[in-house]
Amino acid sequence: MFQKEVYAERRQNLKKELSSGIALFMANHEAAFNYPANTYHYRQDSHFSYFFGLNHPGFAGVIDFESGKEILFGDDVEIDDIIWMGPQPSVNDLAAQVGISEISSFNKLDSYIRKALESGRTIHFLPPYRGAMMIALGRLLNMPAHEVRSKASLPLIKAVVKLKEIKSALEVSEIEKAVDIAWLMHTTAMKMAKPGIVEQEIAGTIEGIALAHGGPVSFPVILSMDGQTLHNHNHHNTLKAGRMMVVDAGTETRSLYSSDITRTTPVGGKFSSRQKEIYEIVLKANMDTIAAIRPGVEYREMHLLAARIIAQGLKDLGLMKGNVDEAVAAGAHALFMPHGLGHMLGMDVHDLEGLGETYVGYDEKTKRSSQFGTAYLRLGKELKPGFVVTDEPGIYFIPALIDKFRSEGLFIDYVNYDKVEQYKDFGGIRIEDDILVTEDGYRVLGKPIPKTVAEVEETAAQQREWLKIPGVF
Ligand code: GLY
Ligand code: MN
Ligand code: MN
Repeated sequence: MFQKEVYAERRQNLKKELSSGIALFMANHEAAFNYPANTYHYRQDSHFSYFFGLNHPGFAGVIDFESGKEILFGDDVEIDDIIWMGPQPSVNDLAAQVGISEISSFNKLDSYIRKALESGRTIHFLPPYRGAMMIALGRLLNMPAHEVRSKASLPLIKAVVKLKEIKSALEVSEIEKAVDIAWLMHTTAMKMAKPGIVEQEIAGTIEGIALAHGGPVSFPVILSMDGQTLHNHNHHNTLKAGRMMVVDAGTETRSLYSSDITRTTPVGGKFSSRQKEIYEIVLKANMDTIAAIRPGVEYREMHLLAARIIAQGLKDLGLMKGNVDEAVAAGAHALFMPHGLGHMLGMDVHDLEGLGETYVGYDEKTKRSSQFGTAYLRLGKELKPGFVVTDEPGIYFIPALIDKFRSEGLFIDYVNYDKVEQYKDFGGIRIEDDILVTEDGYRVLGKPIPKTVAEVEETAAQQREWLKIPGVF
């Protein structure tokens, strides 16, 4: 948790954005794993955490935009809870830790909201993403659970995006801690990428590194020799010489800030010349787009720059053909990179996306493309200082997509399908870094993670050793 002033200031900033009604932020409930008393690792709601700091279930926070009042609803634990969970701070103490002076029993939330609704006040709330929360909000707000998401407050969504998309120095330093831990996760994975190792051994080891540093992982580990499957959570393969292993993984810090990093390592530690050729194109797309990041540029322009680099590189190898700009305008590159260049990163790995991807990644000036590939770009709008974004180009040879496009006669002026057929056993390559947009450019966050061919090969040649990132706790 940060100092109480941090939370007080965030709530003050929100009050400047809305002038009427009440904002309601619910703490997440515990979520059952396989029966009610056996729960998943507790994860607080990121927005509740941002404004109210506490990492516990059983709370709600309200901010009254007219009176300026802030109330924390929650109850002191009882002796039964103390027996199972140990002594817990009182609600009064917890409220003081986050700069709140007014507290109320959680049971009173119902009547507080009912009274506000009866007097015609607007209750602003954010769209819930868990079924239990939809039911809880539906009951509180007197609406069917299935309608709650669509009735979320657009003014509150826009205000929260406006505040949270700009990361403070404190937040950036938390994200950097998360990237430093990811450095250990990824360098360990590189060192373990030897023929005969089962992917699960590496996935489990790097997830353990996240947990050992406060974790958990910020999303389920993606780790596979079948890197052409973009989000591959199947870790059953035994690594084989001649293949590559894509690892897309990051962690959360205790304060819930994330990292999201991808590296691709040749099994056994040496890229073949065919792998190296494709790797260098992805690396150039990653490095050149990072170098072009600065305030005022649209991230969609960076996405299209990556697309042109990929199309040019593939043309140089004879896999694509024709005019590169025309190929990209037509969307032909999306056969090889059918995803966006990146997204916001923060307390959520796709930061703020739960509020509506379009509210976060686009605005009045920059509208989402409807073209296959570019339509999946999560962040297209103009960059501002304080944004933290991912930069994650990739090249994939997806046999089903190649067959589909070829059979439909798509992009025949730009794709050399006969040559592409020879790459159907290639897999995929993705390289992802986490970048801060600064006042005049960018900063790649965290301890540099091996990325060039030489750096990856040098790391992969080493034996694994157990390291600990200092200063995380
Ligand atoms: N880890 C998912 C992504 O890179 O967006
Ligand atoms: Mn990722
Ligand atoms: Mn990402």
